[in-house]
Amino acid sequence: MPQSKINSITAIKRMLESELLSGRPLPAALATAACAGGGASARMVVVRGLDAQLMELWFSTDIRSSKVVDLAAVPRGELCIWLHRLRVQVRLCCRWRVIGGNARRAGDRARWLAAWGEHSPHARRLFAGAMPGKPYAHGRGAMPTIDGQEPPESFAVCVGRVLQIDALVLGRPEHRRHVYRRVAGGWRSQRVNP
Ligand SMILES: Cc1cc2nc3c(=O)[nH]c(=O)nc-3n(C[C@H](O)[C@H](O)[C@H](O)COP(=O)(O)O)c2cc1C
Repeated sequence: MPQSKINSITAIKRMLESELLSGRPLPAALATAACAGGGASARMVVVRGLDAQLMELWFSTDIRSSKVVDLAAVPRGELCIWLHRLRVQVRLCCRWRVIGGNARRAGDRARWLAAWGEHSPHARRLFAGAMPGKPYAHGRGAMPTIDGQEPPESFAVCVGRVLQIDALVLGRPEHRRHVYRRVAGGWRSQRVNP
């Protein structure tokens, strides 16, 4: 029963964990609220990890990108995931923090380094490029090769602490929707109309 995938916080955690464990990339739309022209902005990211205990997840990005500017201004942003095979939409409202090379806390630095370690050579190369979003003025200049274990300064990890989960399963004869809000010591759940 697809419905059972979303009818408890434990089921949702298990569903997300198993998606990540499958080895398939887990793309999600990240919406932020402070884009340069005003209003909201959305783009795809790949969720790379989940701490199901803390309900925190993360993706990597270029610290010079607009989404980092947006999240610095308004750290709340929503991730929207569509699990096609399960016919489930999961909207995760998160409070974000960005961990870059200047991280002071030992735990954050360790996280930054560990995240870099999980990137393939191809993914690492992306962080050697010019500043995202700037005019493509210099043609197809060769990207500097990144070697060694140290991440470049452009590499950042965005960690989202999930504050609310809105899960919708498209089923027959009916759709089903559950909302979970983080409260002191746990989660408050409510079934709502789809
Ligand atoms: C399927 C897919 C996955 C993507 N994953 C990431 C990602 O994990 N991190 C990232 O910074 N950009 C990712 N991108 C690129 C972003 O969607 C976006 O174009 C880029 O980061 C610039 O966004 P910004 O200007 O809003 O910061 C991905 C794009 C696609 C199509």
